[in-house]
Amino acid sequence: MSQEPSQLLVEYLPLLPRGKALDVAMGKGRNALFLASHGFEVIGLERDEEAIHACLTEAKRLGVHLDARHTDLKDLDSCRIEKAAYDVVMCFYYLQRSLIPHIKEAVKPGGVLLYEIFLIDQHLRTGHPRRREYCLEHNELLRLFSGLRVLFYHEGQDAKGIYKASLVAQRSL
Ligand SMILES: C[S@@+](CC[C@H](N)C(=O)[O-])C[C@H]1O[C@@H](n2cnc3c(N)ncnc32)[C@H](O)[C@@H]1O
Repeated sequence: MSQEPSQLLVEYLPLLPRGKALDVAMGKGRNALFLASHGFEVIGLERDEEAIHACLTEAKRLGVHLDARHTDLKDLDSCRIEKAAYDVVMCFYYLQRSLIPHIKEAVKPGGVLLYEIFLIDQHLRTGHPRRREYCLEHNELLRLFSGLRVLFYHEGQDAKGIYKASLVAQRSL
């Protein structure tokens, strides 16, 4: 996966409320590092220690601070995502349906959620991701985050031909 920040995040940066941000399954932290370098206080959750190490090395190189927490998101009891604590919550290319209510509740009133992930079409047409359950059904992302105000939503092929769904949504005050 490219280590460039997500286009969606780059585009919405000017509209994001400043403050605390949570990156769920941050990988090597391309998005977490992007927000940290724009003054956000970022917490990143990730299971892969090598990815965390790569992220922290890059943070050091950039001279930014980031709180990278070694976390198994499957263990819902121990990952303890704080409620109404974050101005920005983002999750890119990680889908665990049991986690969605926790992600939703982590957003502060007035805070913004960004989510982007492959659609089922990507699996059916290319075989990647290999497991169907890691892809969204049509309109599923909207359903999963119903209750938040939609600021942007798109699903279908992007300019590179990838089938994905992208959501930016706000929790009401
Ligand atoms: C496709 S990568 C996306 C990384 C990042 N969000 C991005 O867009 O660059 C999915 C990430 O989820 C992490 N992951 C998978 N299962 C996890 C779990 N149970 N708990 C925490 N992280 C997990 C993987 O280690 C991987 O870094």
